[in-house]
Amino acid sequence: MKPQMLTILGATGTIGVSTLQVVGLHPQRYQIYALTAHHNIDRLADQCAAFSPCVAVVGSAAQVDPLNQALRTRRVHPVPEILWGPEALAQVACADPVTTVMAGIVGAAGLMPTLAAASAGKKLLLANKEALVMSGALMMDAVRRSGAQLLPVDSEHNAVFQCWPQGHGQAAGVEKILLTASGGPFLEMPLEALARVTPEQACRHPKWRMGKKISVDSATMMNKGLELIEACWLFDLSPERVEILIHPQSLVHSLVAYQDGSLLAQLGHTDMRVPISHALAWPERHTSGVPLLDLTTTGPLTFLPLDRHRFPSVDLAEQAIRAGGSAPAVLNAANEVAVAAFLEGRLGFRDIPYIIAATLEQDHFGDVADLDSLIDVDVRARVSAAHQIESRGR
Ligand SMILES: NC(=O)c1ccc[n+]([C@@H]2O[C@H](COP(=O)([O-])OP(=O)(O)OC[C@H]3O[C@@H](n4cnc5c(N)ncnc54)[C@H](OP(=O)(O)O)[C@@H]3O)[C@@H](O)[C@H]2O)c1
Repeated sequence: MKPQMLTILGATGTIGVSTLQVVGLHPQRYQIYALTAHHNIDRLADQCAAFSPCVAVVGSAAQVDPLNQALRTRRVHPVPEILWGPEALAQVACADPVTTVMAGIVGAAGLMPTLAAASAGKKLLLANKEALVMSGALMMDAVRRSGAQLLPVDSEHNAVFQCWPQGHGQAAGVEKILLTASGGPFLEMPLEALARVTPEQACRHPKWRMGKKISVDSATMMNKGLELIEACWLFDLSPERVEILIHPQSLVHSLVAYQDGSLLAQLGHTDMRVPISHALAWPERHTSGVPLLDLTTTGPLTFLPLDRHRFPSVDLAEQAIRAGGSAPAVLNAANEVAVAAFLEGRLGFRDIPYIIAATLEQDHFGDVADLDSLIDVDVRARVSAAHQIESRGR
């Protein structure tokens, strides 16, 4: 079988590292075309030494010399071509030799290369949920036109995909889907105490090891809000047919409910190598390096309804997908700005949903008919969210 030629966008992040771990188990099935980083030059150089990509992409021109130096120190041979900046990300996502793209950049920075891969008809493994939340109809339209294969990597959506009737696309007999949520680190913390939580506490997820932004999103549950929007696009469902269920053990990764009363679930360890391996190998399967879950040792599996008062972010996401148009992009932009401010100590934890709601209320961001207007909406929503944060601080 011809090896898949892979570009990993965000190779130095949590998803990127897990992807390379799975790839390393199957050297005959994958070759690396490009690895991309933003700041982490040392890790990128280590990855180049181990996986010999054709191209390495860094965030800025200033990082080209340090990467060259780091490659020399590691005696990397052959030396990959080094490119830099956002255009290079899009270039390696749609290059001719590439068959498969892992979209593992965090946030809106991943939009352009993810959309480029979708438009170029690649097998697109989607971890970067923000790209789909922002661009919704544009992304799905690009996939349809090009014939790209869009495979969900987010563990919940990958679980739904695995339980979906005859693979992706056909909703025959499906009543609804149930996205599980661990509830994050603050599921049981008294509400008054939430106002004082620190970035360090918010990033200490009880079950998953993840980058900082998604860890904060999990703590506010905006992650589940973004996932709700992602699910509506991926599975062509209205928000009423996407239910959120708290499942603190995080072993059932999500479920599909059928009209005949059947519930199909996917279970496994909390390790992203499982959905990554599934998406990489699809429609086949191969080892991921993760052992099977031993159901005799897991203890009880519990499920609770979502507490919408504790986690107002989910309602905001639901409102945004119902409103349609630019609202999901505005929600995403405001969330990214608010989370960055929280991580920098400029905003309280409980102020994050407040800033998002206040930004959504501005309602003057225009429509998203094409990529240019989407980028315009994103920029304007970021400016508005930054103003909200400033006035909150005064
Ligand atoms: N981690 C998980 O378990 C998980 C699960 C499901 C979905 N996801 C989704 O997967 C995506 C990645 O999450 P993560 O946890 O892997 O994040 P992460 O650990 O923070 O890694 C982010 C990656 O994106 C790169 N990056 C950051 N800003 C960039 C920019 N402006 N331009 C280009 N590259 C940039 C980083 O490069 P440097 O490190 O070199 O700066 C890094 O390679 C997110 O959308 C997240 O929601 C993650």
